[in-house]
Amino acid sequence: MTAEPIHPPHRLLMGPGPITADPRVLRAMSAALVGQFDPWMTDTMNETQELYRQVFRTRNDATVLVDGTSRAGIEAVLVSLLSPGDRVLVPVFGRFGHLLAEIAQRCGAEVHTIETPWGTVFTPEQIEQAIVAVRPTLLALVQGDTSTTMNQPLADLGGICAEHGVLFYADLTASVGGNPFAMDDWRLDAVSAGLQKCLGGPSGSAPVSLSPAALAVIDGRRHVEAGIREAGDVATGERIRSNYFDLGMILDYWGPRRLNHHTEATTMLYGARECARLLLQEGLDAAVDRHALHGAAMLAGVRGLGLTPFGDLAHKMHNVVAVEIPEGVNGDAVRAGLLTDYGIEIGTSFGPLHGRVWRIGTMGYNARHDAVLLTLAALEQALREAGASPTPGAGVAAAKEVYA
Ligand SMILES: Cc1ncc(COP(=O)(O)O)c(C=O)c1O
Repeated sequence: MTAEPIHPPHRLLMGPGPITADPRVLRAMSAALVGQFDPWMTDTMNETQELYRQVFRTRNDATVLVDGTSRAGIEAVLVSLLSPGDRVLVPVFGRFGHLLAEIAQRCGAEVHTIETPWGTVFTPEQIEQAIVAVRPTLLALVQGDTSTTMNQPLADLGGICAEHGVLFYADLTASVGGNPFAMDDWRLDAVSAGLQKCLGGPSGSAPVSLSPAALAVIDGRRHVEAGIREAGDVATGERIRSNYFDLGMILDYWGPRRLNHHTEATTMLYGARECARLLLQEGLDAAVDRHALHGAAMLAGVRGLGLTPFGDLAHKMHNVVAVEIPEGVNGDAVRAGLLTDYGIEIGTSFGPLHGRVWRIGTMGYNARHDAVLLTLAALEQALREAGASPTPGAGVAAAKEVYA
């Protein structure tokens, strides 16, 4: 077999992520490799840590990249913070809450979940009641769950957790960069994220940050691998049950000792650094405002096309909207038409929403005027071909009113 050079089709990725990566990020990722302990490399790692402290609005020293997709970050946090038998509370409002619960179970934790219907979020009172009932060591929840498009308010939960002596972790994969977030002000102990949504990069790197309290848990479980262990490296506590995701060892690699662990995925580091650099250059508040603007234009546009948005819109993430597939319209045929005729991808959904909604993103590099209007124009035509009767031009017109 002779394989041809990679030549992907032109696509505008307007689903719930991954989205079209910013060309500046892809350019940064084509830079030359250097050795992992080269002073330039270690300086670049330090610089990237500082950039992500700013992205998360934290002063946490323990801010690093985990090499892998977003779920690698989730897994690293949970396996490093949870010892078998620890009690964890996971409020579930979509698919990714179930993922946190499943990963925590695999860590041997005693997992308690509470659920709210898809399309809604929890009140702080509901979460506090569950904390009082379960008495967990860790509260783990998703900020923005792309499966439902909901954005769980987190600002009041840190105080509640502190009052009850509970560590507080949130998965920011889908929300960070496009929705307000402040790790230290909101008193979170651990966060993890990914690049492929509002940060405008490809998947494959998971920025993680840990508060001093979370770090203290990991410090109680320190272990240095045989072969690189030195006198004075005494193992403490229950060993973390993953080598690759042992945040203690990952921190030793990123920290001043530069203790060898994995080989840093240099190309992903370049990409992650560029994502953070671009976000901070734009300004965190300006980026949130941009996502709010283009998200509002898309919401107005789909309504203009006669479609019904799904869920509690007061708690929708800025960067993605779910819309109900109209009665009698074949949802998969519309998505296929958008892809083959216009090169535009929108998303389907999971679980209880499978076949019921499309999910349309406006995030990262694609939180843009032209991307929103093109998608609406194409969707109007695809809907018509599927037997619906959208008012001609009404989607684009409604979005333009938001931009006016
Ligand atoms: C909220 C959330 N968490 C986790 C993930 C999993 O990310 P990955 O596929 O990069 O592992 C996703 C992916 O869509 C997500 O939206």
